Amino acid sequence: MRDFKNKWGLVTGASSGIGAEFARQLAAQGMHLVLVARREPQLHELADQLRVEYGIQCEFLVCDLTDRDQLRAMCDRAQEVAPAIDLLVNNAGFGLTMTLDKIDVPQTTRMIRLNVASLTELTYRFLPGMLERRDGAVINLASLASFQPLPYMAAYAASKSFVLHFSESLWAETRSRNVTVLALCPGFTRTDFLTEAGMPVWTQKVTHTPQQVVRRAFRALRSRRQYTVPGAMNYAASLLPRLAERRVVVKIAEFLFRPKRVGGNSDAKSTR
Ligand SMILES: NC(=O)c1ccc[n+]([C@@H]2O[C@H](COP(=O)([O-])OP(=O)(O)OC[C@H]3O[C@@H](n4cnc5c(N)ncnc54)[C@H](OP(=O)(O)O)[C@@H]3O)[C@@H](O)[C@H]2O)c1
Repeated sequence: MRDFKNKWGLVTGASSGIGAEFARQLAAQGMHLVLVARREPQLHELADQLRVEYGIQCEFLVCDLTDRDQLRAMCDRAQEVAPAIDLLVNNAGFGLTMTLDKIDVPQTTRMIRLNVASLTELTYRFLPGMLERRDGAVINLASLASFQPLPYMAAYAASKSFVLHFSESLWAETRSRNVTVLALCPGFTRTDFLTEAGMPVWTQKVTHTPQQVVRRAFRALRSRRQYTVPGAMNYAASLLPRLAERRVVVKIAEFLFRPKRVGGNSDAKSTR
């Protein structure tokens, strides 16, 4: 998909961070948008701003994507609003840092429902229409964590490995039908995610901006890449598990992410 103008996109997790930046950059290219997240005031404000600034149609749908009924109702409503969703940005997600003596099972399963199950359901909901029209794209938010295990963020990293592998398989299945699926794999990015997920303090020093990450995604989409890792250092880090023994990689990660290096209360920390 090369041209977004006058087509419709649906962006999940559009109330902040990378999702809000996707919305801004897509609106600037003339795409009409459906914005999805739980926080209504943020969605409302962004939708108003994008309509005024770029003259696009922009609707927002408040939805907790971990709730299947809400997710389905949101999809039905989106299909009433937009005749065809040509771009799906599966961006909503959160991270969770915890030690084994403070396991939070409900929060972990909620994270898997959001990062894995809702992303899968939304992809399978909107992909068939794109294939029928022989036009469309899906951008799935994976992570640098997709490439390796991450002690203390074990379930989060595993959820993002799912996103990478799921997206790459679909990329191969859809590429002859003029549809593309991209796994976007950012490293640390300056959003609420870092504090919400209880990331180590040092991660704040090696961040990219959401603007850089989203620009990189569009470049990768234009070249029909199946995945992209924004930033040369991040790309090099993504190769490490291929170059070093897996046990070495996981031991280094355990050292870097060990909770004593984490600022503040990191246990089972997450998200709204
Ligand atoms: N920042 C990083 O360093 C980084 C690195 C790699 C990958 N990522 C990935 O990038 C994506 C975006 O994260 P971000 O960095 O932009 O963080 P963020 O600013 O915290 O954004 C997360 C978004 O997800 C939405 N969300 C969370 N739970 C939801 C739910 N149950 N239902 C619907 N929406 C929900 C949030 O909106 P509401 O709270 O309003 O619902 C928010 O808009 C995530 O998938 C994350 O895993 C981030």
